[in-house]
This record gives sequence, C-alpha cells and structure tokens, in this order.
Amino acid sequence: MTTLRAGLHDAIGELARFNSAPELGGITREVHTPEYVMAREFVASRMAAHGLQTRVDAVGNLIGTLEGAQPALPRVVTGSHIDTTLNAGRYDGVVGVLGGVEAVARLAAGPRPRRTIEVIAFAGEEPRFGMGCLGSRLMNGRLCRADLDKLHDANGITLASALREVGLEPDRAGEARVPSGDVHAVVELHVEQGGFLESEGVRLGVVTRIAAAHDLRITINGRAVHSGATPMHLRQDALAGAAEATLSVERLARESSSGTTVGTVGVLTPFPGAVNVVPGAATMIVDIRDSDKDARQRVIDAFQQELGEICSRRGLTVSVEVIQDNQPSACHPLVIDAARESCREAGETYLEMASGAYHDCMSFAPEVPIGMIFVPSAGGISHAPDEFTAPEDIDLGVEILSATLDRLAN
Ligand code: GLV
Ligand code: MN
Ligand code: MN
Repeated sequence: MTTLRAGLHDAIGELARFNSAPELGGITREVHTPEYVMAREFVASRMAAHGLQTRVDAVGNLIGTLEGAQPALPRVVTGSHIDTTLNAGRYDGVVGVLGGVEAVARLAAGPRPRRTIEVIAFAGEEPRFGMGCLGSRLMNGRLCRADLDKLHDANGITLASALREVGLEPDRAGEARVPSGDVHAVVELHVEQGGFLESEGVRLGVVTRIAAAHDLRITINGRAVHSGATPMHLRQDALAGAAEATLSVERLARESSSGTTVGTVGVLTPFPGAVNVVPGAATMIVDIRDSDKDARQRVIDAFQQELGEICSRRGLTVSVEVIQDNQPSACHPLVIDAARESCREAGETYLEMASGAYHDCMSFAPEVPIGMIFVPSAGGISHAPDEFTAPEDIDLGVEILSATLDRLAN
C-alpha cells in the first residue's frame, strides 16, 4: 500500500484494486457496492491527506472542500466519478477525481483562493440503474425521492434499496440538493474516451458541447417452443426479432444526416436462454446519441417505426420504456475561456471538441456554467480493460485544471 501523499499515478493504481470482478481482466466497481464504498473511503483519505475537508452527502456523493477566503461566494466545483461500467478501465472518471484532488492541493499550497473549491466524486455516473449521472442529478434536483424506487439495476435492485444497503437513507435524498445559485462554475477533467486528440497529435481538449444519450429498454415477446420439433415457418423467435432490430439501429445511425449520430445495442438477453428453446422473449437496451438533437430524434423515430414493422412481420409483441432522454449540453464561455487561457498560458496547444460520452457536469447545466478538459485516450479506447492515458498527459491535464480552477475561483 502506497502512502496517501504518494503520487497521483500510484493512487490511480491503488484505486484499481477495488474491483468486484478482477477475474474478467478489467475493473468492475459499480456504485453502492462494497468495493465502491471502500474505493470512496480511499479517495476520502486521500482528500484529507491533501488538506481537504471531506463529507459524504445523503446520496453517497463524496465532497472534498478547500474553503475560500470568501466562503459566502458561490463555489467552484470539479471532480467526476469513481464508479465504473462492467469490466472497464482505471482512468474513466478517476482522472477527474484524483486529478481534481491534486489540482486543488496545488492551489491549497498557495494563497487561499477567493471562492471555495469542491472536488466531488459523484455517486453513480455509470448506468448501473439504467440512467447515468445519478449523484449529480440528485444534487441538482433532476430526480426526486419517487425515482429512487423506480430506478433498478439488472438484478431488480432499486436505487433506494442499494442506498440502504450502504447505510444511506433514501428518505433523506433531498438533503443532497444544492441550489444552482450556490455554484459559480463546474469544470471536469476527463479522459477523452475516443481517438480524436491522439489522431491529431494534441494532448489537450477543451470541450464545447456534450452529446446526449437517448436510451430505451425494449422487451420483445414471441413464443417459447422446442428448437428441434418446431419448423422454421412456425416460430415467433423473439431474439431473431431483436437481432434484426439491432441491425436497424446500426444502419439508421450510420445513415444519419448529421454524421455524428451513434447507435448501440449493448444489452441483448434472450429468455429463457437455453440451447434447445426458441427464445420466447428478449430484452435489449438501445443507446442513441448525438450532440445534434434533431438528427438524433430522426434516428429515434425511424428506429421506433422499423421496430414496429419487424415485430408485426414476425408475429411478436413489443414494449418500449425510455430509460433516459438527456439533452445535449453546451459548455459555457466562462469555463471554456478559463480553460483556453490556461492552455495558452502554459504554452500548450489544445483542440476544441465535442464529447461523445456524457458526464456529471451536464447535470448542473444550463443554470450553472460548465466545461471540461480532455486528455488523450490511447487508441481511443475506453469502457474496456485496456483503457490507458499516459501519466505525463494526466499530469498536464491536472496542471491545466489547476490553472482553470484558479481563474474561476479568483
Ligand atoms: C458514460 O460513461 C457514458 O456512457 O457516456
Ligand atoms: Mn464511463
Ligand atoms: Mn466518465
């Protein structure tokens, strides 16, 4: 175990040890699991060792505070998340949290900033419960108490019961609410998760807009029958229908007029899932994203129509539930300019770019100015075990984050 004041890169390695499925080769640390809570405690100790006051709010967000010289002023927020998707890497979110602690610790070593700065590890950016950015949404009043009983994970565990499992009280969720007037700006450091910076040979991205996800949980019902005894023309195979719908998502996103729409089916589950049973049901989760909302809507509408046609042609019934319908977010000139200026002052080239992934800072927009700083992802890989960002690129990101926070807080 390295000491808590050891370097950022050692700490990233330490955090990677909190893993509920190491046998898969990557990191699985879903929010509100025992591994997650231990990881959050590790981060809290690191925050404290760097001079921040720490607390965990009513929904599990970890907040590290450096009090400003004028604490009554609206504060500046940075941070990201330490939960992961399934079998993921060690940098997504973690760079913004541990890097955020590092960036604020640098400021703590100088004259006290005018505004208070908070580093937040938002609880549940990844969609264990279907919807992403739960901690930041709850903080911003985008979800209410009733939603905690509705949102559930793949095993049917509701967010409310997951909170109880880790000692939090869902009925007190409202206490996590932060009025938007209390926050001056939010800036999040993150790995790019795509290959744009690497392909352009540039080490820094200043994000100008964030694409939004529209996610659907689709259940297709057919007829479970014997796979050996049922001739092909007498089947209502739910998985075959879902497979055809999957190809329709791929084609419609590819053909989208914006050129930036992406469509994915990341979950496709047949029921009962036996080799000798024609699947009687199938569930699929469809994720369609774009920063061009109209183009995204055209793809969603066309998909819904094709889905209906596929199912009626195959004698299947279908139900569709919208899991999340995020709005594309524009980053704010206040934060964009502070980040640009920090890059220029450091003599660093940067690219202005859109984020294809969603991020916690979105939950504060549009009421609060938001922005992001990206560092490259090797091979454009993320949400996979071989996610990698070079230590020197992370260090540069931290330096620019620190300078950006300095501008925003002073
Ligand atoms: C967040 O991880 C996303 O899915 O964009
Ligand atoms: Mn992610
Ligand atoms: Mn992330």
